Amino acid sequence: MVDSDVRTSVVFLVFMLSLGICHADLNQNSGLLCSDADNSTSESSFRVNLDNLLGLLTEKGPSSNGFFKTTAGRRSGKIYGLIQCRGDVSAENCANCTREAFAVALRDCSKSKNVQVWFTWCSLHYSNEHFFGVWDQESAATFNKTDFDNASIVSRGFDFMSEVTTTAPKRPLMFHTAVLDAGKFGKRYGMAQCTRDISRTDCSRCLDTRLMTFKSSIENKRGWEVYGSSCSMWYHDYQFYSNISITANDGKSRRPGRLRSSFLANLPIT
Ligand SMILES: *[C@@H]1O[C@H](CO)[C@@H](O)[C@H](O)[C@H]1NC(C)=O
Ligand SMILES: *[C@@H]1O[C@H](CO)[C@@H](O)[C@H](O)[C@H]1NC(C)=O
Ligand SMILES: *[C@@H]1O[C@H](CO)[C@@H](O)[C@H](O)[C@H]1NC(C)=O
Ligand SMILES: *[C@@H]1O[C@H](CO)[C@@H](O)[C@H](O)[C@H]1NC(C)=O
Ligand SMILES: *[C@@H]1O[C@H](CO)[C@@H](O)[C@H](O)[C@H]1NC(C)=O
Repeated sequence: MVDSDVRTSVVFLVFMLSLGICHADLNQNSGLLCSDADNSTSESSFRVNLDNLLGLLTEKGPSSNGFFKTTAGRRSGKIYGLIQCRGDVSAENCANCTREAFAVALRDCSKSKNVQVWFTWCSLHYSNEHFFGVWDQESAATFNKTDFDNASIVSRGFDFMSEVTTTAPKRPLMFHTAVLDAGKFGKRYGMAQCTRDISRTDCSRCLDTRLMTFKSSIENKRGWEVYGSSCSMWYHDYQFYSNISITANDGKSRRPGRLRSSFLANLPIT
C-alpha cells in the first residue's frame, strides 16, 4: 500500500520511517541518513561538541527565521551543524523539532559523524566535514503508491509543482507555498523549501533535479513528499501547512497545520 523511492549514493543508509495515519497536528520523523559507524563518536570531545551544537542550534535557529548553521569544537573534533525549520513553523515548534531531531540522531545514528534527520517541521544535518553551501543527490520520496489522482489533473498538478519549485528560490527565505484550484477536483497544496546555506541558483537546481528525479513515481499520486539534502517539497490535496501569511518566524506560538500523512513503513535501503 505504501511505497517510497530513494535515490542516494552508496556511502549512506537511508531509512524512511513510518508516518502512520493521523488526523492531528503532528511533527513526524520522515527520514534519516547516517554515515558508516565510526567508533570515535564515543570520545567525550565528540559528545561535548555535539551538546554544544544542540544548544546553539536550538537557541539560534528559532530566532533566525528558522535557519542557523554553525560549528562546535576545534580542529579534528570540529562539527558542522545546520538546522532548517519549515517556513510556516513557529519558533517554539522549531526549537522543539530541533531537540527531537537531535534525540533521533543520537539514538539511531550514535556512531555516525555525518547525520541528516528529516522531520515534518525541520531538518537537521551535522558532520565532521564541511558541507555548508553544498547540495547533493541524497533524497527520498514518500507517497501512497495506490492513491492515484484523477488522470485529468495529473499534468496540472505536476506543472503547478514546477511553478512552486521555480518560485521558492526567488522568495526571501527560499520557502514558498501555493494553492491550485482544480475546480471539481478540489484543491492541491504545494510547498517547497531550500536550506538557506545554499545559493538561489543551487536551490533552483536542487528543486528542479529532485522533481524530475522522482517524476515517474510521484506525478500520478494524490499526495507526496520529497525530502533531501538542502531542499524538500510537499504536495497534498489538503492544507497541511499553517494557515498564516507566511513571513519570518516571529517567536509567537502558532498552531501548526493539520497533518494527515499516510506514508511509509520501515524500509531500509542500501
Ligand atoms: C568499533 O568498535 C567495535 C566494537 O568495539 C569493533 O568491533 C570494531 O572493530 C571497531 N571499528 C573500528 C573501525 O575501529
Ligand atoms: C515537543 O515535542 C514533544 C515530543 O514530541 C511533545 O510531547 C511536546 O508536546 C512538544 N512541545 C511543544 C511545545 O510542542
Ligand atoms: C493508500 O491509498 C488507498 C487508495 O486511496 C487507500 O485505500 C489506502 O488506505 C491508502 N493507504 C494508506 C496506508 O494510507
Ligand atoms: C476523472 O474525472 C472524470 C471527470 O470528472 C471522471 O469522468 C472520471 O471517472 C474520473 N476518473 C477516475 C479514475 O476517477
Ligand atoms: C485561511 O485564512 C484565510 C484568511 O483568513 C481564510 O479566508 C481561509 O478560509 C483560511 N483557510 C483555512 C483552510 O482555514
